[in-house]
Amino acid sequence: MKVLGIDIGGTGIKGAPVELPSGEILAEHLHLPTPQPATPGAVTAAIKKMIQHFQFSGPVGAGFPGVMRKGVVETAVNLSPSWVGKNAEKLFKQATKLSFSVINDADAAGLAEMTYGAGKKEKGTVVMITLGTGIGSAVFIGGVLVPNTEFGHLTMRGKDAETIASAKAREVNDWSWKKWSKRVREYLHLVDRLINPDLIIVGGGVSQRAEKWLPRASKGVKAKVVPAKLHNEAGIVGAAMAANGKS
Ligand code: BGC
Repeated sequence: MKVLGIDIGGTGIKGAPVELPSGEILAEHLHLPTPQPATPGAVTAAIKKMIQHFQFSGPVGAGFPGVMRKGVVETAVNLSPSWVGKNAEKLFKQATKLSFSVINDADAAGLAEMTYGAGKKEKGTVVMITLGTGIGSAVFIGGVLVPNTEFGHLTMRGKDAETIASAKAREVNDWSWKKWSKRVREYLHLVDRLINPDLIIVGGGVSQRAEKWLPRASKGVKAKVVPAKLHNEAGIVGAAMAANGKS
């Protein structure tokens, strides 16, 4: 079955057709900049563009950077606040006439890693952390997702953790990998202490360069810490998985 997977982020919107159940990405992904302001109308227009680009007519799955309950957006910290309360699934469906399933973006990335990547066959407590514009989290217990955890918003140094430890925070502040990795270490220790997982999978675009910062960032963390295997594509593949079975 062919599904279009779309990863909606605060900075970019990425998508590609995915074959399921193999999880194979079938074409070079398309990257569109997230419109600013990222209102429901503007993001929907980008989604339409994505579908036109791939001339796609099957089911679509999307990862959204906020708490999602039955297709409805409950939070959207890194997009326009006008998303809150909107039914993203309905909105995208009406605009494209295609079937849509929308789940949290980090949950999507976690699903892909648990099935095809670094969490494959892991039975204990697994936490996936995505470092991007924000910080996302996905928790799995015995392979089952506990949806909508929001560990990016834990308090660290009296601040919202994602504002001082995300990949965006490194870029905006022009921190060296060394300086940033110390922030990430503090953050991973916080997650480790509070949840005591067996495994922490660290994803997002920065996982592609994990050797630059992950050894330092994972020092002293009790849980085993590994980079995502699907890197930034986990969000696309996982979003497609969310749509599987719906049409
Ligand atoms: C949002 C999460 C999201 C994460 C990564 C956070 O700001 O609250 O829902 O998973 O960013 O996009």
